[in-house]
Amino acid sequence: MTNFELKSYYSSQKINDMNKFLYSNVENVFEESGLADFFTKIEPLQIALAKKTEQLIHNKKIRLEELGSGTDLTRWEIISGLKSSKKWEVILTDFSENTLPDVSKLNKKGNYSFVTKKLNLLDKLIALNPEDKVDVILATYTFDSIWFSEDLHIEKKLNKWFYTIYKLSSLKNIKDINGLAHVKIEKKLIGLDMAKHVFGNLISEYYSHKKNIKINFPGGLISKVEEAFGKQIATNGIFIIGDMAVNNTDGLIPATTAGEDPIYMEDYATSGKVAKFKVEDYGLAKKILETLRYKVELETVEQFIKNSGYKIPLEVKDHWIMIVRR
Ligand SMILES: C[S@@+](CC[C@H](N)C(=O)[O-])C[C@H]1O[C@@H](n2cnc3c(N)ncnc32)[C@H](O)[C@@H]1O
Repeated sequence: MTNFELKSYYSSQKINDMNKFLYSNVENVFEESGLADFFTKIEPLQIALAKKTEQLIHNKKIRLEELGSGTDLTRWEIISGLKSSKKWEVILTDFSENTLPDVSKLNKKGNYSFVTKKLNLLDKLIALNPEDKVDVILATYTFDSIWFSEDLHIEKKLNKWFYTIYKLSSLKNIKDINGLAHVKIEKKLIGLDMAKHVFGNLISEYYSHKKNIKINFPGGLISKVEEAFGKQIATNGIFIIGDMAVNNTDGLIPATTAGEDPIYMEDYATSGKVAKFKVEDYGLAKKILETLRYKVELETVEQFIKNSGYKIPLEVKDHWIMIVRR
């Protein structure tokens, strides 16, 4: 069991104390409810991911790095079972030995090779030499699980903006994982001057139609994408992100003008195992990344699978795929 101590003070980062503890003990903690496995288990989704990757990466060899991969190898069992004329070099990463998969168990076919590497996303990425750069970085259920220093819970109340900080305190030793009920979470609102906040004008403009709103500002996603393109992604490479987002269609604002994107979320909603940690406001992330001159495709998993040519009988409106390119 990991050493874990709850230091009790207010910070917007406190959520990661619990996160680190929970994931290091993932087998025990998720024993009853089970891990959210949507992104790794659904077969048509893995096929669509492989197809899209091969469409966008024209090299004969595809180097792909997965972030926060976890121990489940179902995705790679499926993808390595597909017929591909390309060579795939896959690097599976996660923050600790406990959360990395055993790739020797993978029943891989000729064109695929797999290695694992420890990579803590709360650290800065290392700058890779051009020959070591990857064509694809893939992260599913990762940005909604990790609380980055740039992430914020922001609230607008009667047209005034605030951000939230948290304090976790524990009456007992947190190592007693069966007793997490004794962990107390307190929250405080601090006034926020949007004019001075990074991307503040964009955020307030984006939500100008609302007097009251609570948002998750996905600052971590935005800065990790920028960092990855600067240090690790090869020219013409892509960053694929799949996460849980808003959980109902009421939150979607349809396009009003021709050519405008049809999918912008208004509010966040909470549901599901993953969303306990964080729900992304993807629409805002897309807008900000576009102002940083990236090309961003954002669609529901249902649409993503349909685009790959597969007729999917299930409705999936609460899981999203974002593909970012230069
Ligand atoms: C919800 S799981 C997702 C697993 C898998 N990618 C999937 O789609 O099901 C979140 C993953 O993020 C990893 N993780 C949590 N904190 C991390 C950190 N600081 N750096 C890297 N990975 C982290 C966890 O170990 C876990 O494998």
